[in-house]
Amino acid sequence: MTAPIAIIGTGIAGLAAAQALQQAGLSVQLFDKSRGPGGRMSSKRSEAGSLDMGAQYFTARDRRFVNQVQQWVTAGCVEQWTPQLYNSNAGVLSPSPDEQVRWVGTPRMSAIARQMLGELPVEYSCRITEVFRGTQHWHLQDAEGRGHGPFSQVVIALPAPQATALLATVPKLAAAAAGVQMDPTWAVALAFDAPLQTAMQGCFIQDSPLDWVARDRSKPGRDTNRDTWVLHASASWSRQHIDLSREAVIERLHGAFAELLDCVMPPPSFSLAHRWLYARPVGGREWSSLADADLGLYVCGDWCLSGRVEGAWLSGNDAARKLLAHLE
Ligand code: FAD
Ligand code: NAI
Repeated sequence: MTAPIAIIGTGIAGLAAAQALQQAGLSVQLFDKSRGPGGRMSSKRSEAGSLDMGAQYFTARDRRFVNQVQQWVTAGCVEQWTPQLYNSNAGVLSPSPDEQVRWVGTPRMSAIARQMLGELPVEYSCRITEVFRGTQHWHLQDAEGRGHGPFSQVVIALPAPQATALLATVPKLAAAAAGVQMDPTWAVALAFDAPLQTAMQGCFIQDSPLDWVARDRSKPGRDTNRDTWVLHASASWSRQHIDLSREAVIERLHGAFAELLDCVMPPPSFSLAHRWLYARPVGGREWSSLADADLGLYVCGDWCLSGRVEGAWLSGNDAARKLLAHLE
């Protein structure tokens, strides 16, 4: 029996690769350091309901991804979100409606990862620290010193800096990944017992510590009786305040939010801060995925393309396509 394929990372890229390989009849084994799937497109369960702290919505521009989104809609885990959009520039807030179709997971963003995962075998709370090749096969080591393997091939589906750390045995791929910088994002969720007096459901923001806010509750299927909001700090503010305490981040971004709406804002009845260290790649690339097919090592993730959900999905599929092409 051939050894399975190891897939490190259960974000959209890793799950897309896993699905494509499984559909081609190959056996896969997934690993993730977190306690569940989805990576940057996961949701946080809280006393104020589920909150989308990472990816807020996604657009579909590539035909293949458009088809995938339709399948998710049919499966009941994705719906269109049509927020009342605003834009804030130099402190001037104005409605900013547009025609763009935007999608969200229902009843929460992480529903998509759950759907993709299906019955695929996965080991959570398992941070891989080393990927190395024996005479014939690949082996992994985790942070607790446990070994995993043998594997016929390995797909690394992690943010670029985390991928770089696992690519020591293939310097050419390590150098490519090391050249991709990723910016952090501080994310804060706030819940209010009484709804804030605004029609806003999403806002693109310039010239502020914030670059985006969304009324999480306005997304379809969200089951909460509180007015829940997710605020994202800009890349530069997040970088400058990377080591600020969670409490201080909540206070500052809550203040920036009050300034944005130009109102006296009540204190939230619930708040939460999350720091995404590797949130978005700086600059875009057209790599699709990276590979050393002779060695059997593949690398994918949003940073190989657009730094968006669509880019991550396309990249994972491209890694699987390259792997399958090499087997033919
Ligand atoms: P990830 O989702 O990062 O998956 C990597 C996985 O690997 C994670 O689950 C992680 O736990 C795991 N991992 C890391 N290191 C290890 C290790 N050593 N061993 C084992 N597991 C490991 N995109 C949009 O299209 N629209 C948006 O509105 C949007 N908003 C965003 C807002 C924020 C705050 C953030 C952070 C991202 C946003 N994005 C958005 C980007 C989108 O979330 C990503 O492009 C996409 O989810 C990336 O998927 P991925 O599979 O490439 O990586
Ligand atoms: P999109 O087409 O809705 O937005 C792309 C960009 O166009 C926006 O960032 C915004 O600047 C502008 N824009 C779009 N509609 C607008 C409107 N009605 N009024 C004013 N400006 C508008 O979605 P796409 O291309 O799928 O991008 C995904 C989103 O995810 C982007 O907003 C991006 O910034 C965000 N993102 C955030 C990350 C983070 O870490 N905070 C990481 C990756 C993506």
